[in-house]
Amino acid sequence: MKIHPMWHEYPTLAPELSSALTLIEKQITTNNTPVAEAILEMINGGGKLLRPAYCLLFSRFQDTDREKMIALAAAIETLHTATLIHDDIIDKSPTRRNQITIQKQFGPETAVYAGDYLFVVCFKLLAHYASSLRSIQQDSGSMEKILKGELDQMATRYQTDITIDDYLKQVSGKTGQLFALSCFVGAYESGGNNNFAKAAEKIGMDIGIAFQLLDDILDYTSNGDTLGKPVCEDVRSGVYSAPLILAMQRDRQAFLPLLAKKDQISDAEMDTLRDLVIQYEGVKQAYAMARQHTEQAIAGLKKLPAGPAQDDLIRLTSSLLNRKA
Ligand code: IPE
Ligand code: IPE
Ligand code: MG
Ligand code: MG
Repeated sequence: MKIHPMWHEYPTLAPELSSALTLIEKQITTNNTPVAEAILEMINGGGKLLRPAYCLLFSRFQDTDREKMIALAAAIETLHTATLIHDDIIDKSPTRRNQITIQKQFGPETAVYAGDYLFVVCFKLLAHYASSLRSIQQDSGSMEKILKGELDQMATRYQTDITIDDYLKQVSGKTGQLFALSCFVGAYESGGNNNFAKAAEKIGMDIGIAFQLLDDILDYTSNGDTLGKPVCEDVRSGVYSAPLILAMQRDRQAFLPLLAKKDQISDAEMDTLRDLVIQYEGVKQAYAMARQHTEQAIAGLKKLPAGPAQDDLIRLTSSLLNRKA
């Protein structure tokens, strides 16, 4: 299967990612055509495959059954895709991966079922391929924390006094957890010992937090065509992310009249808000935080055994700081 072009620079990883996608495709066996079609379009939409990539890279420190690791990486990507399908319903998002979202194209009912179906596929793969209950416990624990991150985010919507600590807690849950799980499963299921798997999990958390910070920065600095999904919708729906929170720390009053418009904020006012966030260095400060988490992750990676897996992990993690989409 065709995978994101970024992986051409990782020749040992690319074919395994492609196999993971093929395996996911094979798992879509429901005879409900709209649900199956919707899922297949989403899977073939050109997602970056970062989480399975981290799982596979962390599994390369030991000699291990590659088929099993590919299946576990596929399970993780399936879980990620399910959360995105449901996220697009919650966020009423019309586009993702440069295509129309399932909720927009087929309606929220089909999207709920498509996401549910992928959760089932994830658990089927895990139950079949995981060698211990530990990974399944870790997986269900992660799902719970992802949900908690999303619920906390929902509970603080439109709160102009949200702090950067609130944000970081939410982000550790909604995004950090899945990166942490990916690294943990790769390290643990390949036969790594407990300390190694725990170190991988911690590194994954920093990578995930940096990833979400970058995602929230791109919301202010990029556009929908480049990202393949809408920008600045978060503010309208009351989700205030790092660049805005950090800019508001400089001058709250400058933002309050615009935020008081809530979901009625116009496109022109949104442009003004975006300019203010940049002017008050919200983007710059958020980027410094992303850099700090990336450096922390790289410091952890440098303590791992030297070799091609470590090199690829460091190269990939640093490159994410420069990503444009
Ligand atoms: C999107 O993740 C959700 C966030 C955590 C920001 P990705 O940007 O990894 O999504 P795909 O899989 O590449 O589409
Ligand atoms: C992504 O969150 C969904 C999860 C991490 C569960 P966002 O809503 O912030 O991400 P995008 O911008 O839609 O990809
Ligand atoms: Mg969301
Ligand atoms: Mg969203």
